[in-house]
Amino acid sequence: MGTYMCMCMSLLLLVLFTTATATAKVHYHDFVVQATPVKRLCKAQSAITVNGMYPGPTLEVNNGDTLVVNVVNRAQYNVTIHWHGVRQMRTGWADGPEFVTQCPIRPGGSYTYRFTIQGQEGTLWWHAHSSWLRATVYGALIIHPKDGDSYPFPKPTRQTPLLLGEWWNSNPIDVVRQATRTGASPNVSDAYTINGQPGDLYSCSDKDTVIVPVGSGETNLLRVVNSALNQQLFFKVANHKLTVVGADASYVKPFTTSVLMLGPGQTTDVLITANQAPGRYYIAARAYASAQGAPFDNTTTTAILEYKSAPCPAKGAKIKPVMPTMPAFNDTATASAFTTSFRSPRKVPVPTNIHHNLFFTVGLGLNNCPPGASSSTCQGPNGTRFTASMNNVSFQLPSSFSLLQAHQQGIPGVFTRDFPAAPPVRFDYTGNVSRSLWQPVAGTKVYPLKFGESVQLVLQGTSIFTAENHPIHLHGYDFYILAEGFGNFNPSRDTAKFNLVDPPLRNTASVPVGGWTVIRFVADNPGVWLMHCHLDVHITWGLAMAFLVENGVGELQTLEAPPADLPLC
Ligand code: C2O
Repeated sequence: MGTYMCMCMSLLLLVLFTTATATAKVHYHDFVVQATPVKRLCKAQSAITVNGMYPGPTLEVNNGDTLVVNVVNRAQYNVTIHWHGVRQMRTGWADGPEFVTQCPIRPGGSYTYRFTIQGQEGTLWWHAHSSWLRATVYGALIIHPKDGDSYPFPKPTRQTPLLLGEWWNSNPIDVVRQATRTGASPNVSDAYTINGQPGDLYSCSDKDTVIVPVGSGETNLLRVVNSALNQQLFFKVANHKLTVVGADASYVKPFTTSVLMLGPGQTTDVLITANQAPGRYYIAARAYASAQGAPFDNTTTTAILEYKSAPCPAKGAKIKPVMPTMPAFNDTATASAFTTSFRSPRKVPVPTNIHHNLFFTVGLGLNNCPPGASSSTCQGPNGTRFTASMNNVSFQLPSSFSLLQAHQQGIPGVFTRDFPAAPPVRFDYTGNVSRSLWQPVAGTKVYPLKFGESVQLVLQGTSIFTAENHPIHLHGYDFYILAEGFGNFNPSRDTAKFNLVDPPLRNTASVPVGGWTVIRFVADNPGVWLMHCHLDVHITWGLAMAFLVENGVGELQTLEAPPADLPLC
């Protein structure tokens, strides 16, 4: 009997052991969204954070793992959490954009996000997707290869997430509310941050500057995320070259550069080898500001790459770290040299049989003030109000049902399915645009796609009011970036530039200032998926639309049922 038990036990153990190594893990987290005292730039303030942390907690998982995150809202604002870049296959209810895939979690409410990482490796992040809360409600989501799989590059000695952020010396919700009231553009930020710290070029920030330790000769992985609200950023490390190995949780063909440019929403994984004289080197980020004459925060945030063997300064002395030379604020040549360097590591299955050939203009607009409106509400240029659109539709969120719920339950009157495949009027998009084309029409329109259809989309920037670089993010999908260029997209000339072999796979594309980007994807994930400019000021103005992807055949091509605790409006 005893022997039998023993055999049984060891068999059981064996089974348990095999399951434990072969099965993906489930990670449980609690996120408490709450007002927290945060002191920055000599000023004590209250900021909305997750678990009192700014930035919020870093989540680390392996490809294939499941995340279960219970979000409790103890703040005075509505909140939702978006898992930026996670494909959310069939789990659109966990995507997070307010009024798109769920109604907000009201103060005092809670919601549990449940989703599985499938086939993505590298760096993503999470952030609030309600008003401008993401200014302080964000964190890194690091996806390691499956247990037993390795990186497609030598294993780095250390890994450091570097989240670039943006800080206001006032409540960001008040900043956007004021702009929405006045129609003017919102106040620019007071600082950029690296892992929540502005760094020692700002007042009162010295002692908290982030230190990134490094041993001489080591090769380390920096996971750089642009979490800033409204600004594309250049990123450099003094005297060190960076080898780009991944972006938006897809690997890329490695290339070496001295400078990165990231639009908000984008991530870039780089290897850095400590091959310089032992010392201290600034890691710095500052604006890539492509719009001519528009106000922007022109400050520089820094952290310090510190060699462990760096000589100690004499008592009381201070050795300034080496500062990199940053590109000029308007250095579009450097930005586009960077964005066009990306390739997939090998030949990839770019869709070629295109069902939807789409052309979307992306840009700003100015609404004339309605007659009789108070001038205090018309503080945009020449007594107007700022707006923005795609294909002349300025996106309005619904308020009584989320788009996904309205779609799944067939609730009429929440949205229409007539988002146009092309702009209603053709014009010289990047030329001198007639003022009669500056006022878009407000609407809640989706573009419907059948399951499995393939899409080519030209994102065409406009020069309405001003041309600028737009980081366009698509929820629920990664897409191939086939080409980008300046001026108006011209199919007879520009189709020849398409990379149909090894284009990069991303979730956010930097559409060049006064130019265009062409992307392709297959609609293999049913749900309602927001696409928008990741400059929050532009989403606020309506630079967004949504794709509605129908269910396919059978369970594996069908959106899951909504979770029981899904917040309703
Ligand atoms: Cu990173 Cu719609 O967002």
